[in-house]
Amino acid sequence: MSNNLLKGKVGIITGALDSNSIAWKVAEKAHEQGARFVLTNAPIAMRMGEIKKLAEATGSEIIPADATNVDELTQLFTKSQEILGGKIDFVLHSIGMSVNIRKNIPYTELNYDYFSKGIDVSAMSLHKMLAVAYKLDALNDWSSVVALTYMAAQRTFPFYTDMADIKAMLESIARSFGYHYGLKRKVRINTVSQSPTKTTAGTGIKGFGDFYDYANAIAPLGNATAEDCANYCITLFSDLTRMVTMQNLFHDGGYSTTGVSNEVMKSLGVEA
Ligand SMILES: NC(=O)c1ccc[n+]([C@@H]2O[C@H](COP(=O)([O-])OP(=O)(O)OC[C@H]3O[C@@H](n4cnc5c(N)ncnc54)[C@H](O)[C@@H]3O)[C@@H](O)[C@H]2O)c1
Repeated sequence: MSNNLLKGKVGIITGALDSNSIAWKVAEKAHEQGARFVLTNAPIAMRMGEIKKLAEATGSEIIPADATNVDELTQLFTKSQEILGGKIDFVLHSIGMSVNIRKNIPYTELNYDYFSKGIDVSAMSLHKMLAVAYKLDALNDWSSVVALTYMAAQRTFPFYTDMADIKAMLESIARSFGYHYGLKRKVRINTVSQSPTKTTAGTGIKGFGDFYDYANAIAPLGNATAEDCANYCITLFSDLTRMVTMQNLFHDGGYSTTGVSNEVMKSLGVEA
């Protein structure tokens, strides 16, 4: 269903790897709501991914860019403005990768080269994207930037290892840059803290399946799907949320404010 919430708006969407990706759903929803946009991903991911199908379905062009590379990001913002015919109205940062998680390395034994790589890819990349956009003056007044995060930034989830610290940094960058870009161009920058979601990045975490079920049993509304997340991102890109900035917004069916649920108590043999 389209309400044309993004009619006339143009954007950049990172991170659509395959049809499970949260960014993939955001692209589909943004298209449905009348937006035009450029799709981007790391060159290495695009060879494996199916991003061309998404580009065809949404009438989008693809610009490869490694989000850790400032030159490639400069190309991305410059070319996107040429393709889309002007400044950008919305940006989705949907990028996450931890080598420590991939290699199953416990938090107490982190490899620091991998940790640095994770910071660069998953958090500093937001700063780099914003700094490039700021320098090029590539974002329109009142445009909206959303980055995806997880609640391990606030509370400990042992299996999330270094990504917990990295997400804390990501959320801080959103606040800090939100201040500067708010003053410069009324640009708003928020993070959306999403439920566990069955994507390539999500399922790469050890024990993800069990934790997914646990979170689902805690949250009164259940886990939010990738599609639900996409809908929320669309509202944040729209003018209906124009005074929301520098926030970390939980999108988790109520998980973050629920202590325990009857369902979980019952599974422990306790009648609540
Ligand atoms: N899946 C979950 O459970 C969950 C929960 C909360 C938040 N998130 C966050 O949502 C975001 C999207 O992840 P997803 O779950 O859709 O998984 P995904 O694996 O589909 O997406 C991650 C994307 O990051 C891209 N990427 C990795 N390195 C890159 C680089 N150097 N340059 C550019 N792009 C790069 C990958 O190619 C991929 O498209 C991530 O920030 C993730 O941490 C996911």
